Amino acid sequence: MTGRRAPEAWASLWTARYRTPPGSGIAPAAINETIATLLAHASVRAFLPDALPAGALEAAIAAAQSAATSSNLQAWSVVAIEDPARRARFAALCGNQRHIEQAPVFLAFIADLSRLRRMAERAEHPHEALDYTESFIVTAVDTALAAQNAVAAFESMGLGTVYIGGLRNDPEAVARELDLPQGAFGLFGLCVGHPDPDRSADIKPRLPQAAVLHRDRYHAGAEPGLIAQYDETADEFQREQGLPSRAWSTTMIMRIGTAAGLHGRDRMRSVLARLGFALK
Ligand SMILES: Cc1cc2nc3c(=O)[nH]c(=O)nc-3n(C[C@H](O)[C@H](O)[C@H](O)COP(=O)(O)O)c2cc1C
Repeated sequence: MTGRRAPEAWASLWTARYRTPPGSGIAPAAINETIATLLAHASVRAFLPDALPAGALEAAIAAAQSAATSSNLQAWSVVAIEDPARRARFAALCGNQRHIEQAPVFLAFIADLSRLRRMAERAEHPHEALDYTESFIVTAVDTALAAQNAVAAFESMGLGTVYIGGLRNDPEAVARELDLPQGAFGLFGLCVGHPDPDRSADIKPRLPQAAVLHRDRYHAGAEPGLIAQYDETADEFQREQGLPSRAWSTTMIMRIGTAAGLHGRDRMRSVLARLGFALK
């Protein structure tokens, strides 16, 4: 993925992402196929029933395993679910998301400290550090970095994906369904398949870069104007998609307003304790 792409094509991806054209400061050296693949990302929620191309899963997992990993602990695993009946069960477990049934592959990404724990137990060695919140952060970060490499790999093959945070709706049921040992937690799922060309996904604009890229120090001074600008951009996208008009900031503020907005996931700490994460 290192070949050059025509600057116009790259500029149109940038423009789709920010709804403003790239500034003149973008050096040609920064224009390449890898970045274009990443800029072109859009979550896909409509899939053809066709199987993945041979070797696609294995190539994407090799990409996932190539991600950096804290202290080389490699504290993650993934369960690939292809059986339609089991995908239907996962669709129900994850809040009746139809794309889980539709996509030929559902990947359950597992924050996994259990392998390290088993290694220590076999060596009759303590594993006290696994009981600390820091170890949970490590496994969650490792899992997310690996998954995102897999997403980039699938998208580079022309396949579509959508993450499924709904896997955390009922983590204990997911643990039973997947036979997860203590110290393993289904962090999120990922649907993978061929995007349905009749219901293609569009690039969803993001916050202006100045809202997230700080130089030398964190500056929030310009934030209100940048958010107001993004509210308009995001609303324009909503209307283009035939979705209700709304300001992004209002939606986000509503979302974080109450624990009830977490839809049952406000009990995560006690659930994690039962799944073997002491979070000391
Ligand atoms: C960890 C994670 C969990 C997500 N869970 C869901 C989900 O359960 N269902 C869904 O339809 N989309 C889910 N998404 C997709 C987001 O809604 C999507 O990435 C976001 O709206 C931005 O859109 P885009 O990916 O098309 O750019 C999830 C994304 C992430 C990163």
